[in-house]
Amino acid sequence: MADVKMIGVIGGGQMGSGIAQLTAMHGIDVCLLDVNPQVLSTASSSISSSINRLVSKSQLSQSTASDALKRLRFTTNLNDLSVADFIIEAIVESEEVKKSLFVQLDKIAKSSAILASNTSSISITRLASSTTRPQQVIGMHFMNPPPVMKLIEIVRGADTSDATFAATKALSQRLGKTVITSQDYSGFIVNRILMPMINEAFYTLYTNVATKEDIDTGMKLGTNHPMGPLELADFIGLDVCLSIMKVLHAGLGDNKYSPCPLLVQYVDAGRLGRKRGIGVYDYSKEQKSSKS
Ligand code: NAI
Repeated sequence: MADVKMIGVIGGGQMGSGIAQLTAMHGIDVCLLDVNPQVLSTASSSISSSINRLVSKSQLSQSTASDALKRLRFTTNLNDLSVADFIIEAIVESEEVKKSLFVQLDKIAKSSAILASNTSSISITRLASSTTRPQQVIGMHFMNPPPVMKLIEIVRGADTSDATFAATKALSQRLGKTVITSQDYSGFIVNRILMPMINEAFYTLYTNVATKEDIDTGMKLGTNHPMGPLELADFIGLDVCLSIMKVLHAGLGDNKYSPCPLLVQYVDAGRLGRKRGIGVYDYSKEQKSSKS
């Protein structure tokens, strides 16, 4: 495919806003879409402050920063993405919701456009089958936060073409990332290994084996992980973790993937992690002091 000049990113939450920031900082025009205008306004201010922080730490030049900010647009209208060369979907982790978006996207996107999903675990083959261009649908799984983490996991659906794979790999490398490739099975590589560990940390807490602090300290100092599993779950979002566990359970059919009841209960209670100010840990004081 021709050079990617304009990218559409759908979903302005943690991942979508980070992906939009990253692509703009690499000189590509970006249009970020969300159904919720409030989310777009939060994304716009968090991207600006993140870019300004990089400038103040001398990690980004003032001219690259100004250029990146000019390349960003925000919209709630899907038709604005009809000019995009490459579209990255980063909406809620629900197969039904993603499929219905892919049906709409297929109708409005350029015939040459690649439709990528940032899904953590949902089948790319099934998302692709809801479009008339399954050869141009691919998984492009960024890690959180996208501007910082070095990896992109590319997932090939059953019908993904070699040309789509090559274009996605080239784009990932242009964004400065290292690529790994996975076949399309639930959880791919990273979450198939990571999520059962996080789920087991919830079981360890649920069955009163240890406190949350000791579980996290154990994994940080005992296995050299930069964050403990419960802390990491709060960072990812407990709703996202639960959705991934459900996909692993349904797709791999083993009880070892059954979501821990405590994880389910936290999500039911709206304790979704850092983004809500409370998850396994309470962040409300920390977030109030960073605003003041
Ligand atoms: P989030 O909850 O922060 O953001 C999702 C956004 O999608 C919300 O702003 C919501 O308004 C929007 N949205 C929902 N339906 C929409 C639609 N039909 N059209 C447009 N916008 C819509 O979620 P987050 O964490 O950014 O995750 C997004 C995707 O990225 C999920 O598929 C998730 O599995 C994946 N992911 C998440 C990671 C994480 O650490 N949170 C890491 C890698 C992938």
